[in-house]
Amino acid sequence: MSHLNESHLQFFDSMGVKTHQGHEQLLEYGHDETEDFVFPPELVVLPSTAEEVADIVRYCYQNDIPVTPAGARTGLSGGCLPLHGGVLLSMEKFNRILHIDTDNLQVTTEPGVITEVLQQAVKELGLFYPPDPASKGSCFIGGNVSENSGGPKAVKYGVTKDYVLNLQVVLPTGEIIWTGANVLKNATGYNLTQLMVGSEGTLGIITKIVLKLLPHPTHDVLFLVPFFDARTACEAVPAIFKAGIIPSGMEFMERDALLWAKAFTGDQAVPLADNHQAHLLIELDGFDHEQLMREAEQLFAVLEAFETDEILFADSAAQKEALWNLRRKVGEAVKTQSVYKEEDTVVPRYQLPNLLTHVKKVGERYGFKSVCYGHAGDGNLHVNIIRGDLNEEQWTHELPKAITEIFEEVVRLGGTLSGEHGIGYVQKPYMPLAFPEVTLQLMREIKRVFDPKGILNPGKIF
Ligand code: LAC
Ligand code: ZN
Repeated sequence: MSHLNESHLQFFDSMGVKTHQGHEQLLEYGHDETEDFVFPPELVVLPSTAEEVADIVRYCYQNDIPVTPAGARTGLSGGCLPLHGGVLLSMEKFNRILHIDTDNLQVTTEPGVITEVLQQAVKELGLFYPPDPASKGSCFIGGNVSENSGGPKAVKYGVTKDYVLNLQVVLPTGEIIWTGANVLKNATGYNLTQLMVGSEGTLGIITKIVLKLLPHPTHDVLFLVPFFDARTACEAVPAIFKAGIIPSGMEFMERDALLWAKAFTGDQAVPLADNHQAHLLIELDGFDHEQLMREAEQLFAVLEAFETDEILFADSAAQKEALWNLRRKVGEAVKTQSVYKEEDTVVPRYQLPNLLTHVKKVGERYGFKSVCYGHAGDGNLHVNIIRGDLNEEQWTHELPKAITEIFEEVVRLGGTLSGEHGIGYVQKPYMPLAFPEVTLQLMREIKRVFDPKGILNPGKIF
């Protein structure tokens, strides 16, 4: 693959599209939220139409220049790091919501719209776009589609893929296509829409997105349940679903996750007794207050079988927001405490206690502390491995062995490597643990069909 020379730069200048070439800006666009990686591109290009994207990509294709699409760069697997330099194609100017279709409960949007902005816009019309990653206030909807993002609501409402109906995509060779149709059912040929979802910008560049919407629930209740033992908290999770309750949020936080989030946010209102080892944050939602109260009673009845401390009932909007804010800030809080590595393990919900126990055992053997939290209702445990006092040898050479042991157990328990953060750059070495060579080869062939020269987001996934 080529580096950019004067004549390439002249071409991009002549396009009339905004670019960045300054050293500081290249460094800025060379990182996301994944550890402390920085891979500066050689040029940042900021198109605002699909046609401009097509022109850029076609030129790069003809000239063997690597192109890395990027959204808000909030990712946690390095999906938008321009590993090979070249052009970073920032989608930040695609920031318009194009049409909220209240007749069909759909929204057509450009990919550079901040997820929470989209959610608020449809909420004003009584509509609901549920997927709400922790970074919803800064991440882009296009990045969510590319990574198949989840978040707390996934447990009841599903992840990003469950809402994507149709996509406009610029192929690596410069053609512009739509992947499907704006319909709720579609049995017409291969499902290219879902192939694009979660493909981490390796198959094409998404320039328009059509999403399904729901009526917005009118009521919700939120509980913070303290447990004296983290494994017990995990064991309570499947019991709740078995009782017929589907919460709209079912989040797990180990003691340190909440402790560090409290320190990070400065919000000390939530009690954290010395013997609280973990919490479940449980939300129920719906359209009828009485019905919700009945469900809450059922929930308490299930929890009675487990040893918990007094349950905190968030009864004002402010209190609910404070609790959700603490939960959403755990990731950032950990980042301020130490160098760390984040794993996004996911197992069948029922296996969560076994996964947690295994992670701690591996930690004891390799000498690292971990802070675990995440979407317990989905069996999706974020394992943050804290560097602490580990030396260079332990961190760079021993730790991958420990992570391998964790992933091996994840797979043995029926799970897989990533629930919602993607594979990108950092999880790539572990892909053979999740798939046999024949499956990986199929994936590589699909990549080759879309991108025969491998110019689009090179070095990701496998
Ligand atoms: C969270 C992000 C890290 O759940 O996925 O907070
Ligand atoms: Zn998460």
